[in-house]
Amino acid sequence: MKQELETLHGKALQELGDVQDTKRLGDWRVTYLGKKSELTTLSKQMGQLDAESRPAYGQMLNELRQALEGAFATTKATIEEAEQNARLASETIDITLPGRAIEVGAVHPISEVVREIEDVFLGMGFSIVDGPEVETDHYNFEMLNLPKDHPARDMQDTFYITEELLLRTHTSPMQVRTMERMHPHVPIKVLVPGRVYRRDEDDATHSHAFTQIEGLVVDKGIRMSDLKGVLEAFAKALFGEHQRVRLRPSYFPFTEPSAEVDLVCVHCQGSGCRVCKETGWIEILGSGMVHPRVLDMAGYDSEIYSGFAFGMGPERIAMLKYGITDIRQLYQNDLRLLRQFAGV
Ligand code: PHE
Repeated sequence: MKQELETLHGKALQELGDVQDTKRLGDWRVTYLGKKSELTTLSKQMGQLDAESRPAYGQMLNELRQALEGAFATTKATIEEAEQNARLASETIDITLPGRAIEVGAVHPISEVVREIEDVFLGMGFSIVDGPEVETDHYNFEMLNLPKDHPARDMQDTFYITEELLLRTHTSPMQVRTMERMHPHVPIKVLVPGRVYRRDEDDATHSHAFTQIEGLVVDKGIRMSDLKGVLEAFAKALFGEHQRVRLRPSYFPFTEPSAEVDLVCVHCQGSGCRVCKETGWIEILGSGMVHPRVLDMAGYDSEIYSGFAFGMGPERIAMLKYGITDIRQLYQNDLRLLRQFAGV
């Protein structure tokens, strides 16, 4: 009988030696230590033994059970450790791999210039407002002293949507919308950036869609010298303290008198070059005193109030500032150009 137990012991340990995973270890346990195992069967048969040999046999069975349980525990620990190590190895992340660079966007040069100009005028107490790009003939023309048969309407070729609806050709309709909204309060000091549209052929200096920034000031006693002072402060803030502005007589139906405003050429500082066509000056905006008829139509009595207005093109200013020679480059979104403005 002792022999029998030793054979069982040997067989069990040998099989355990081949076990390499938890599933087969479980099977082994059922086979050698479970309710239907040989060991259990032998224990149950102990009753058939005579009383004399029972204690010694019982002890042998106990020792065998303990030995097998001990072997099981050791193997279990070994297998679990091996399995854990395998798992860790397969889940390892190589933290020395270089990461993928994230491309960071940049502010577009036009937006950059618009923001810079907004900052300057905010500093002078202007509010920034915006208005509709789909505008009515009424605000785009009529209320700006441009009745239907007015020859100056040809100055701006218009994209019409219907007889009365159009894509605004300039930001000036916001002069009227602002006065109507503010009436009867003064002072009015607003800056209006926005997109405008004209039926132009695109070339190096023209685009059918571009940006404008409108300015409007209305109060009692506003004079042409206020216009010049504000624009000179603006020019200095944007292009440097040495800057000066020059006003040249011009014509717009909604301002009287009207003036075109020039900067000292930013390339040659006024000595004359190709950029300024040897004049030493560069035109940057149109302006004037708000026409009395425009004030009256918008509800501000021109006998009491006066104002000035101006309109400029940020594209042109961006081109001057950054030395861009073709306006189309500002719309093509070529990354080679845009990347140069990352971090400006
Ligand atoms: N709206 C004019 C244009 O687009 C510019 C302008 C604005 C002129 C305000 C005078 C006053 O050409």
